[in-house]
Amino acid sequence: PDNSSAFSPVCHNLRRFFPTVITHKAWEGFHFAGHEIRITEATDCYGAVVWPSALVLCHFLETNSKQYNLVDKNVIEIGAGTGLVSVVASLLGALVTATDLPELLGNLQHNVLQNTKLKSKHRPCVKELSWGIDLEKNFPRASCHFDYIMAADVVYHHPFLDELLLTFDHLCKNDTVILWAMKFRLDKENQFVGRFQTLFDLEVLSNFPISLLYLWDV
Ligand SMILES: C[S@@+](CC[C@H](N)C(=O)[O-])C[C@H]1O[C@@H](n2cnc3c(N)ncnc32)[C@H](O)[C@@H]1O
Repeated sequence: PDNSSAFSPVCHNLRRFFPTVITHKAWEGFHFAGHEIRITEATDCYGAVVWPSALVLCHFLETNSKQYNLVDKNVIEIGAGTGLVSVVASLLGALVTATDLPELLGNLQHNVLQNTKLKSKHRPCVKELSWGIDLEKNFPRASCHFDYIMAADVVYHHPFLDELLLTFDHLCKNDTVILWAMKFRLDKENQFVGRFQTLFDLEVLSNFPISLLYLWDV
C-alpha cells in the first residue's frame, strides 16, 4: 500500500481548516442619503477600513446637497479605500469614479456596487489610480472633466505627498471643486496644506476642533 495516500485526506483537511474569526466578513453599517449602507472592511491595509474624514465628508455631502448638488455631476474620488464617500456621492445622483491602488479595488468594487445597485441614478465605476502614475494615459486631460474631486484622509504618514499633489493638479480643471477632508496629525503632513495652497484657492468649510478634522472647498 502507498502510505502517502493514506495520509493525504488528513493533510487535505488540515489545509482547509480556518478559524471562524477570519471566515466572517467584517462589515459596518452606516446611514447616509436616506439609505442603509453596508461597508465590508478588512484590517490588513490602510484603505480597507473607514477613516474618520470619510464620515465627515459623507455627512457634509448629505447636509449640503443643495449648495453642492451632485445630480448628474462627474465626481472622482481618490484614495477611496472602502468606497463609503463614493457610495454616498452616487446615491446623491453623481456619476462616480472611485479610485485607489490595485490591491484595494476588489473590496472597493464590492462595496460601491452592492450599495448603489438599483438605488443610484448612474452606475458608478471603479478604476485604479496610483497617485502620480500614468495620469495622462489613464485620465487624459483632453477628455476627462470632473466637476468634483473628493478626497478623505489622503494626507497622513506616507511617502507619496508629491505624487498626491501632482494628481490633484492633473485631475483639476478651472471649474473643478475639490472637497477634501483631512485630519491634522503630524507637522510634516500638516505642512502639505501650505504646499496645496500654492496651487489652489482654499476655503475651510467646517472644522471639528476635538479631533482636528477640517473640510475644505478648493
Ligand atoms: C487613510 S486611507 C483613507 C481611505 C478612505 N478615503 C477613507 O477615508 O476611509 C488612505 C487611502 O489612500 C490610498 N493610497 C495611499 N497611497 C496611495 C497611492 N500612492 N496611490 C493611490 N492611493 C493611495 C490608500 O490605499 C487608502 O485607501
